[in-house]
Amino acid sequence: MSEALKREAAARAVAEISSGMKVGLGTGSTARHFVDLLGERVTQGLEIVGVPTSEATARQARDCGIPLSDLDALDRLDVTVDGADEIDAALNLIKGGGGALLREKIVAAASDAMIVIADSSKLVETLGRFPLPIEVNAFGLGATRRAVADVLARHDAQGALRLRVTADGKDFVTDGGHFILDAFFGRISQPEALSSELLNIPGVVQHGLFLNMCRKAYVATPNGVETLL
Ligand code: 5RP
Repeated sequence: MSEALKREAAARAVAEISSGMKVGLGTGSTARHFVDLLGERVTQGLEIVGVPTSEATARQARDCGIPLSDLDALDRLDVTVDGADEIDAALNLIKGGGGALLREKIVAAASDAMIVIADSSKLVETLGRFPLPIEVNAFGLGATRRAVADVLARHDAQGALRLRVTADGKDFVTDGGHFILDAFFGRISQPEALSSELLNIPGVVQHGLFLNMCRKAYVATPNGVETLL
C-alpha cells in the first residue's frame, strides 16, 4: 500500500489534535507520517506535548520541533496515535513489527484514547496471520523460549517460533534492551487466554496483542479513508 494512503490516514488523526493536548507518538512507517504532519502543525502554532514510543520516534519528533515529555512528568495523555500490524473487527490489534511494542503498550495504556492509523492491508478477520512479537528478557532466553513454545502448542500455532534478527544477521535488541521472539500462529482463536498465558512466563516482558485498547481506527483504502469504531 502506498505511502500516500498511509499519509491520508495519518492526516485524519492529526485533525483530531488540538492545542493543550498531550499526545502519544507511535512508531513505524505510518506513525512516521503522523509525526511529520503533526510537526508541520506545531510549526504553524499548535501547542502540544508529545510522548514518543521509541528512540526513533523521539529523534524524528525532535527534528520536527515537537516538544517532548515522558510518563514520569505527565500523568495521563489525551490520545496516542499509532500504527498496527493487524486489526480485527473489534479493533483488537497485533503490534510490534517494528519492535517498539513495550513502549507502545505502556504509552497507549496511559492514554485516554488510542487511535490507530493504517492501510487496509492490515485488516483481518482473525488475528494471527502476522507473527506475534513477544518481547523477552535476555537472561534465561532458552528457558523462556521453551515455555513460550509450550504455550504456542496449546494454542495450535501453525508455525515456528523465531528469535528476531536484524537484516545483517545480528540479534534484534529493543529500546529496552530485550530480545523479540516472533510466533507464527496462523490464527489466534483465544487472544485473551493467550495473552495471560504468555504474561505468566517470568521471562516474557510483554507481547504484541493489544486487546480492548483501541477505540478508533482510520484505515486508508484506494477509495478514501474509512473510520472504524
Ligand atoms: C512498531 C509497530 C508499528 O506500529 C507496526 O509495526 C506498523 O508499522 P507500519 O506502519 O510501518 O506498517 O507496532 O512496533
